Amino acid sequence: MENKVYLTGIKPTGTPHIGNYFGAIRPALKAAASFEARYFIADYHALNTVKDPAELRRNTYEVAAAWMACGLDPEKTLFYRQSDIPQVFELSVLLNAFTAKGLMNRAHAYKAAVALNLEKGEDPDSGINMGLYTYPVLMAADILLFDADFVPVGKDQVQHIEIAVDIAEAVNRNYGKELFRIPQPYLEESSQVIPGSDGRKMSKSYNNTISLFLSEAQLRKQVMRIVTNSQGVEEAKDPDSCNVFSLYKLFATPEEQAALAARYRAGGMGWGDAKKELFDKMNRMLTPIRDRYTALMADPSVIDEALNRGAERARQLARRKMEKLRRAVGL
Ligand code: TRP
Repeated sequence: MENKVYLTGIKPTGTPHIGNYFGAIRPALKAAASFEARYFIADYHALNTVKDPAELRRNTYEVAAAWMACGLDPEKTLFYRQSDIPQVFELSVLLNAFTAKGLMNRAHAYKAAVALNLEKGEDPDSGINMGLYTYPVLMAADILLFDADFVPVGKDQVQHIEIAVDIAEAVNRNYGKELFRIPQPYLEESSQVIPGSDGRKMSKSYNNTISLFLSEAQLRKQVMRIVTNSQGVEEAKDPDSCNVFSLYKLFATPEEQAALAARYRAGGMGWGDAKKELFDKMNRMLTPIRDRYTALMADPSVIDEALNRGAERARQLARRKMEKLRRAVGL
């Protein structure tokens, strides 16, 4: 596995939350130890929806600072901004020539946007830009330019990888050689669902997220707001059906989990106490991450330096690949 390329794009569209940490950031950081990892900030993908320059810039810093604060070492893991690699965009034009329009018509995100328009009785393409329509081509360029073997993504992105495979195979077939390595989606086997503050899956679209970088006071407030059932203090409680406990498991040692589970079952412990335990363990783990994040955001030149160095190395790889491709296609 050592030299298999493991690549993913991070869309900078808001501060990462606890669900992002356990679902994406932590697994990616673990994988960086056993693969040749390449992580980039998909800022051109974000431009499709974020049109305010200050917001896009801030989102990019936030997501870079978040990953670095959580432990990404830019000296070991290739870490760059998509927009710093012009070859991505050159390749995406090349790929356009091999991408059936019908393939884009079938992409989920585009189809969902059209369906929503029709539901509202609007023009099917209302508010849909070409960036959204051709989103999978740009994503294919991100992946194919860097010879990715594995692309860790959530279920919602699997179709995009399949599209990248389709396009890569069309190119390889036409030139009769393996110009592109065929990527594979890499699904986390322990895709445990992280509950949000209302008990549903933590997700920005449910408005139930707990940000990774809340101040201690804000974090306490958010934890106290987690929805529980209406059992009284004296009643025995079931840890396995409780979202406070599900969150607790992510932050506590096995011994601490067993101890709290026993208090649940014994009765005599109110929800306020359970939440206090949860807050303590969350705060213990998040404090050093929050401190590093705050320091990086206070001096983003450290982030810029890391991303610029990463881009330099990424451009070298990209230049070589693009030269080979241009020759092969006759440009
Ligand atoms: N589409 C991905 C998302 O929304 C982000 C992304 C862009 C990406 N380019 C990529 C992911 C290439 C993996 C590989 O989360």
